[in-house]
Amino acid sequence: MATSAKPHIIDLPRIYDPRGNLSFIQNGDKELPFDIERVYWIYDVPAGEERGAHSHIHAKSLIVANSGSFNVNLFDGHEWYRFTLNRPYQGLYVPNGYWRTLDNFASGSVCMVLTSTTYSEDDYIRDFDEFMKQTQTDE
Ligand code: TYD
Repeated sequence: MATSAKPHIIDLPRIYDPRGNLSFIQNGDKELPFDIERVYWIYDVPAGEERGAHSHIHAKSLIVANSGSFNVNLFDGHEWYRFTLNRPYQGLYVPNGYWRTLDNFASGSVCMVLTSTTYSEDDYIRDFDEFMKQTQTDE
């Protein structure tokens, strides 16, 4: 499997300010293992809904809970990694090659995803059996 590192939480800078706090990330930061090509965000998720359920062949991601709280569940074909994101000053790095689902969204949550590629459906594996087959082929 073409994974470059394990999923992990990246602590982002926090600029404390009585007017409101600020965090950021940019290309070239040593904590960010890829250059950002695209940003998308998921919001208005109804209670009990699940997002994701796919893996990416090439795209790497950084997932941030801009608001609220949700779980990110990652599977490398052997092991599940589960993270609860609820801090806008932390990002979860997700390498390519991991099956992922997002669930347990609190009302009002905003999930921002920074990713290393522009959108291409060809980069997705959306069938879990196909993902498992691919994982075993790559080993
Ligand atoms: P989908 O990949 O199913 O969302 P999730 O993050 O829950 O897996 O995407 C939903 C729809 O949005 C699908 O038709 C593809 C489209 N889409 C884009 O057009 N551009 C994008 O950057 C993304 C992430 C999705």
